[in-house]
Amino acid sequence: MGNLDNKVAIVSGSGRGIGREIALKLAAEGARVVVNDLDAEPAKETVAAIEAAGGAAVACPGSVTDPDFGELFVAKAVDTYGGLDIIVNNAGYTWDSVIQKMTDEQWDAILDVHLKAPFRILRAAQPVIAGSVKQAKASGQPVPCRKVVNISSLAGTGGNAGQANYSAAKAGVTGLTKALAKEWGRYNVTVNTVAFGLIKTRLTEAPADSGGTIDVAGKQIQVGVNPNLLTAMEQMIPLGRSGTPAEAAGAVYLFCTPESDYVSAQTLVCGGGFNL
Ligand SMILES: NC(=O)c1ccc[n+]([C@@H]2O[C@H](COP(=O)([O-])OP(=O)(O)OC[C@H]3O[C@@H](n4cnc5c(N)ncnc54)[C@H](O)[C@@H]3O)[C@@H](O)[C@H]2O)c1
Repeated sequence: MGNLDNKVAIVSGSGRGIGREIALKLAAEGARVVVNDLDAEPAKETVAAIEAAGGAAVACPGSVTDPDFGELFVAKAVDTYGGLDIIVNNAGYTWDSVIQKMTDEQWDAILDVHLKAPFRILRAAQPVIAGSVKQAKASGQPVPCRKVVNISSLAGTGGNAGQANYSAAKAGVTGLTKALAKEWGRYNVTVNTVAFGLIKTRLTEAPADSGGTIDVAGKQIQVGVNPNLLTAMEQMIPLGRSGTPAEAAGAVYLFCTPESDYVSAQTLVCGGGFNL
């Protein structure tokens, strides 16, 4: 028996890093998971890992920034597993510059992936959620508690130099969360944000370890943090180290459990005690 038996979850950007660990954790607790990633291979690999552990998952590759992706993602859950209970908006990347060097393209790309895409996914989910609630009420069944977890960052809660685009997008995520918590309370949906500090993934590894660049629509975008800066950042974290993707997934899982059914509109910082 898992804590999330019979639940259906969609997790964007779950081919790698934190999203992958979120998908594995939800599946280990019994949820059936729709795994999305921009890159089809890592998405398939996450599905294979879930299946190898005895869980159920299906891949839904594609960019969350495609205008019709929200409908596609939601339909994959409904068509494959017959419902939708948990939505995790996790996909994203960084494209940093100081403001005087930041182009409109850089600004728009980061706002699109971190803020507009979650908005579209949630908009696409509304008819499915409202329809299920109506059906449950009409048949005298209890309305189950559904969960939305949107991923933010300490850059969103406190701002970060060199990341005006990312900080603005991730701050926007908390606004989206709070608005939706108010709109969807009547559907018994909790909507929360998890803001990560420093978690060791491709985004934050030293460039040499992370591969240095990621491919977004044919454009090579540099990711990874200078190793000296990483060491300095780790020294400021009360727990003395960066977090693992599994630890980050644990924070998201807290908002997906039945024990958090009366917690909504909150931002949980998962940063080893460090806060901006
Ligand atoms: N790692 C950290 O320290 C940290 C800190 C704060 C917030 N975050 C946030 O956590 C989330 C996960 O990041 P991560 O560290 O695991 O990075 P990651 O690069 O390891 O994984 C992110 C995944 O998202 C996918 N992705 C990117 N753009 C996409 C798109 N348009 N459509 C679909 N998939 C897409 C990537 O292919 C990748 O597999 C992001 O929202 C990130 O901003 C991470």
